[in-house]
Amino acid sequence: MIKALTLKEYVKKNDKELAGLIVKMAGIAERISQELPYRRGKADTKNVFGEKQLVADKWADKFIIKELDKSGLVKEMVSEEQEDVVKLNDKALFSITLDPLDGSSNIESNNLVGTIFGIYKKDLPAKGRHQVGALYILYGPVMTLVYATRNGVNEFLHTRKGFVLKEKNIKLPKQGKLYGVGGLRKDWLPGFRKYIKGLETEGYKLRYGGAFVGDFNQILHYGGIFAYPALSTKPNGKLRLLAESNPMSFIIKQAGGASTNGAGSILDIEPESINQRVPTYVGNKGLIKNLEKIL
Ligand code: F6P
Ligand code: MN
Repeated sequence: MIKALTLKEYVKKNDKELAGLIVKMAGIAERISQELPYRRGKADTKNVFGEKQLVADKWADKFIIKELDKSGLVKEMVSEEQEDVVKLNDKALFSITLDPLDGSSNIESNNLVGTIFGIYKKDLPAKGRHQVGALYILYGPVMTLVYATRNGVNEFLHTRKGFVLKEKNIKLPKQGKLYGVGGLRKDWLPGFRKYIKGLETEGYKLRYGGAFVGDFNQILHYGGIFAYPALSTKPNGKLRLLAESNPMSFIIKQAGGASTNGAGSILDIEPESINQRVPTYVGNKGLIKNLEKIL
C-alpha cells in the first residue's frame, strides 16, 4: 500500500507559500474538535447579526484569533463573530476571513458543523477574487479538511496520524442530481421557485443539512447546487459575503464549478461592509448559468 501523504508534506510540496498557515489552521481544527463536547451550552449573547450565540461560537472565535495571532502569520482578520476588522501582526503577509463555527445550531442535534477560512494577501475587505486560498473543516463522522488554491482543491482525512491526503485536485462530478436550499420555501421569489421546480422535474433530489460547510461538501463530492437564496423577507439571503460565501465560491471555482448572487460571480462583488450578506448559489457551471438566465 502506498503511504498517504500528510497534510504537512502535501502542502509544503504543492502550496509552499501557504504551508505554515494551512498547517496552523489544521492544528486549530484538531483542538476545536476535541473541545466541542465540552462547549455545548447557550451563551445568552447575540452576535453582530443579532443571532443567538452558543458557548462554542464564542470560544472558537476567541481561540482561533488567539492562535493565529500567536503564529505571527496574520496581518488582520474579519470574523463573523466580530464587529470590526481585528488587527494582528502588521508585518505579516496574510489577511484572513473567518466563520469560526458554521452551522452551530446543529450542535444540539449533533449534526454537521464546520469552520471556514478565506485567505488574502490584501487588506480587508476585498473582493473574493483576490483570495489566494480558502479552506474549510467539517467536524463530521470523520473530520475532513478541504483547501483550495489556484493549483486546485484537495481533501484530507483526519486519522490517528493527523490529516492525510484523501483526494487531490477534486473536480465537481458532472452528473450529480442533488440540491440543497436554506430558508423558508414560502419566501422564495418566483424565478427561483420556477428554477427549483424545473430541477425537481428533472429528478433532482433535495438533501439539506443546515450547515453551509456540510451542504457545500455534499455538492463538491456528488455535484448539483446549493443555495441560500434571496428571499421575500431577506432580499440578501443569510450567508455572509466575506466569511462564508467568498471562500466557498473560490473553492467551487477551482473545482470547475461556479457561484452567483443571481447576477454574476460572487467573487466579483466589491464589499461595501465587512458584515454584508449575499444571496448565494454555488454548484455545477451549467446549473448556475441556467439559474442566472431564469433570475
Ligand atoms: O451560518 C449560517 C448558517 O448556519 C449556514 O451554515 C446554513 O447554511 C444556514 O445558516 C442555515 O440557515 P436556515 O436554518 O435558515 O436554513
Ligand atoms: Mn456560518
